[in-house]
Amino acid sequence: MKMAFGFLAAILVASLSPFAHASDPSPLQDFCVAVNDSVAAVFVNGKICKNPNMVVAEDFFFPGLNKPGNTSNQVGSMVTPVNVNQLPGLNTLGISLARIDFAPYGINPPHTHPRASEILLVVEGTLYVGFVTSNPANPTMKNKLFTKYLYPGDVFVFPQGLIHFQFNVGKTNALAFAGLSSQNPGVITIANAVFGSNPPINPDVLAKAFQVEKNVIDYLQAQFWWNIN
Ligand SMILES: *[C@@H]1O[C@H](CO)[C@@H](O)[C@H](O)[C@H]1NC(C)=O
Ligand SMILES: *[C@@H]1O[C@H](CO)[C@@H](O)[C@H](O)[C@H]1NC(C)=O
Repeated sequence: MKMAFGFLAAILVASLSPFAHASDPSPLQDFCVAVNDSVAAVFVNGKICKNPNMVVAEDFFFPGLNKPGNTSNQVGSMVTPVNVNQLPGLNTLGISLARIDFAPYGINPPHTHPRASEILLVVEGTLYVGFVTSNPANPTMKNKLFTKYLYPGDVFVFPQGLIHFQFNVGKTNALAFAGLSSQNPGVITIANAVFGSNPPINPDVLAKAFQVEKNVIDYLQAQFWWNIN
């Protein structure tokens, strides 16, 4: 009886699961090591699998995440990603990793990951982090900001798709590692996408949207939007 109930529950969960994907689809085999398909003509949701007989331990390996990223740039931070583009064995597995280095007062500017939630661990320094909720009907939750100061050993989670940032408020370097719930989380850096697009968005559109004079938009579009992600 107990087993029958478990079986029914399993069927129910399985039947609902197509509507409940919180991360990349589950693999249907042990692994699907990505072939480096930059010249391949076929595109799939993920990357094409390498012949399993040709797979080697190196396909599941990425060295060097002990090395600091170069933070000599306008925002004073650098992200070193380890996703399916750097570690082909991550293909279909629904996870990835990043190292984030911060110079003193460096920022990882407001951005979103369209395909992943992010769990951040601070290893060195002090970070001021936050995210903003979307604009649903519930007025009390509309664009609500959640922030926290983080110290070594602290962990913080940024829900999938929400705009978030990390700011080094200390006089020393800061270091964090982030786990992401996608093999290919994607990054949209807000200012870069809005003011640094190629070609530029019509400034009349942005002046109206941001409710400022067009010369403010001209100024912003003339900046160099450094991309650290
Ligand atoms: C760090 O980046 C800056 C700016 O791109 C560059 O000038 C400098 O040579 C880099 N430093 C190292 C150690 O790679
Ligand atoms: C894939 O190929 C490109 C171009 O040949 C190379 O730059 C890149 O490092 C390769 N990526 C991996 C994970 O081997």
